[in-house]
Amino acid sequence: MHDAIICRINGTTHRIRGEKAFLTLSKYLREEKRLVGTKVVCEEGDCGACTVLMAAPFDLYQGQLQYRAVNSCIVTMAQMHGHVIVTIEGLKNNDQLHPIQEAYEKGQGTQCGFCTPGFICATTAAFERQNLKGEKATLKQLKNGLTGNLCRCTGYAPIFDSLNLALAEEYTPLIKRYKADWDEDEQSLLQKGLTIAGENRFFFRPTSWEDAIEYKKKYSSDVKIMSGATDLGVLQNKRGDRPIHLMDLSGVKEAYEIGTRGEDFFIGARVNLQATEDFLEDKISEFSRLLRIFASPQIKHRGTLVGNIANGSPIGDSLPFLIVSGAKLIILSGSGERIVPMDKFYHGYKKMDLGPEELIKGVLIPQLKDNELLKLYKVSVRKDMDISAVTFGLKGHYHKGVMTNIRLAYGGVGPIVHRVSEVEKDLEGKKLDKEVAANSTSLLEQAIFPISDVRGSKEYRMALAKNLLIKSYYELGQEVSTESQA
Ligand code: FES
Ligand code: FES
Repeated sequence: MHDAIICRINGTTHRIRGEKAFLTLSKYLREEKRLVGTKVVCEEGDCGACTVLMAAPFDLYQGQLQYRAVNSCIVTMAQMHGHVIVTIEGLKNNDQLHPIQEAYEKGQGTQCGFCTPGFICATTAAFERQNLKGEKATLKQLKNGLTGNLCRCTGYAPIFDSLNLALAEEYTPLIKRYKADWDEDEQSLLQKGLTIAGENRFFFRPTSWEDAIEYKKKYSSDVKIMSGATDLGVLQNKRGDRPIHLMDLSGVKEAYEIGTRGEDFFIGARVNLQATEDFLEDKISEFSRLLRIFASPQIKHRGTLVGNIANGSPIGDSLPFLIVSGAKLIILSGSGERIVPMDKFYHGYKKMDLGPEELIKGVLIPQLKDNELLKLYKVSVRKDMDISAVTFGLKGHYHKGVMTNIRLAYGGVGPIVHRVSEVEKDLEGKKLDKEVAANSTSLLEQAIFPISDVRGSKEYRMALAKNLLIKSYYELGQEVSTESQA
């Protein structure tokens, strides 16, 4: 066990102890190291101004380290153990601007200048991603890489001109300049557990599930688990939350497992949302499509599927899918593992079947079988990175013109995401037509009780819930009739 985090920033190794390890990465860069090129605007992961590039130890692409765009304003320094970070200052090579910086300058994409470092880092990350896949980036991919970066001034046209100029240049991957070449002493420290004591607060980074369980047992409900901290980081910045014990599972290598286990797919606790989206793209494409609009690339590079589950928000975007698909959680404690079906996990608002000494190890997602149909919807004010007003998922088995084994679940219409059994029963064995849809929507009125809040009134949410149901019947009807004609 040691007491200092070790990370690399623009090629220089940093060791950080004590209270400083609880600073956000953006504060550490700007206030401690005067790397003020990284800007801070919203401090809640929404605008992308603070974007930096980061390679995390076990977040590998085919065994290789990968540089991802992340929001430095919601990352805690203590989480950076073993991470390699490149900021806007690090992109420049001595006095020579990076080709992407030059492209922004020539294309006049710098505009206000304040959000520009974030735009440039996010663009670089989009190039890195395609480069790792051995592909040349396209304009569309670069634009998608900027969905987490907001321009509030002149507009995106000069930014897109700059992207076109960048596409014309040869791209050299960052890993050629910034490697994770730790020396022997650093290597051995990185393999050990880490405990940091701040001012009346502690950070623990175990390297095994056993150590994680031991810590949870010792401090039980006082321990907050840090995953990507995409929510916790916001609460720390905006609400002043200051948990006494933080535990970060990023050192538990087994928690990054993603693959197939028997009939199911398994997504480990530390697998981020981008890796989940990529893995499921050709396996459960409807869910992968939903993950595309789940959040910005910066958030998806840090946030995890298990984090979304453990957060327990009734508008968690992944939850309707996990519930209708019959997913199960593997829950770990000192007495071993137990399995909990997702539709039994939530008991009330942020109340779940998870004891104070337990941790979620991962989630098992059944593979889609032949003739199984799945539809997922998210309605939010902005398309690409926004909190949902209502979410909806429907899965069923289609055979000889009728749907059976129908499961449907809504988010944003009550204290938890839940199945609507009244409608499920009514639909069983029926053809999805206008008459059935009308009956379903009137049953829905008796079964869900949305509330009004900043994201929508209860009337708006009820209307959305009904319309999404009708839309899903219409779309499924289309798919079913196309399949019947095939
Ligand atoms: Fe807006 Fe970090 S400052 S995302
Ligand atoms: Fe900075 Fe538009 S370029 S807000």
